[in-house]
Amino acid sequence: MQTPTISEDTPIIDHDFTPEIEMGLLSQSPSISPKFLYDPLGSHLFTAITLLPEYYPTNTEKSIFTQYQHQIADAVGVGGNLIDLGAGNCQKAESFFNSLKPSSYLAIDFSEEFLQEAVNKLQGKYPHINMQCIGMDFSRQLLIPRSIATSNRTFFYPGSSIGNFLNSEALELLRQIKSQANEGGILIGVDLMKEDAVLMAAYDDPLKVTAAFNLNILRSINSLLGSNFRVDQFRHKVQINHVQNRVELYLEALEDLIVTWPGNSREFKKGDLIHTENSHKYTIESIKQLLKSAGFDKTQIWTDPKDYFAVIYAC
Ligand code: AVI
Repeated sequence: MQTPTISEDTPIIDHDFTPEIEMGLLSQSPSISPKFLYDPLGSHLFTAITLLPEYYPTNTEKSIFTQYQHQIADAVGVGGNLIDLGAGNCQKAESFFNSLKPSSYLAIDFSEEFLQEAVNKLQGKYPHINMQCIGMDFSRQLLIPRSIATSNRTFFYPGSSIGNFLNSEALELLRQIKSQANEGGILIGVDLMKEDAVLMAAYDDPLKVTAAFNLNILRSINSLLGSNFRVDQFRHKVQINHVQNRVELYLEALEDLIVTWPGNSREFKKGDLIHTENSHKYTIESIKQLLKSAGFDKTQIWTDPKDYFAVIYAC
């Protein structure tokens, strides 16, 4: 059995996130970057979210992938180099292995530990595909290892993860993807704007899995920063912002409290909010415009019957 390579020519995450976390916590409107949601427990909680009936993006995207598998393969082309951004448990990319028949598969994710386990399992099932994995914070800079052929690259960015970036950041990331795709393209999943009730159920599910996912960010921060956040002093809160077309996640302080960490502290009053995530929702026109601004002129789009979600191949 071939063993997947942990890429050596690109730095894995060895970054000190303290300044970034402190800046967010000490700002007037406190925030924590959503990438810190994905520590090992957070990554498992996210997988649990994708199994919830209320979390429509995963099911809907999967149904589009299944229904249009052949059209998607025709658009992307077979035998290329598949680069999976935010690969997680790698299941979505695996669902394309039979139709796209990639010659190489590079899995990139912020949570390296979780990723390595997933890629190890996958390599056992597909020994003929050359697999590599890297832990990378590509929200800072996208660095593709030199060992990945520059031709026939397809970036795979499913799940509407692009929606977790501000529009300016999304544009910058898409531009970087375009410049590294060369003659290739991007296969991207994006969530479309829809009625509030559907969004609220998806982001504030009755089983409280999303609440646990959101609250776990405090534990993730405690281990990175050495802070003493107490999960039971906060609650999960969801707001829909119709001006920015996005779902916003917050943690609301349930009482007055002080959080301390080496060298600093922050006071929270009851009702104060920590912003933890934006999840932007698009229209077909707004996403086409964003892709075009990044240099992707051609698009092929597939949607579901309710127009909840869109899968796009852009080049
Ligand atoms: C990963 N990302 C696209 C998810 C979303 O829907 O924005 C993260 C998530 N947050 C809460 N539920 C799921």
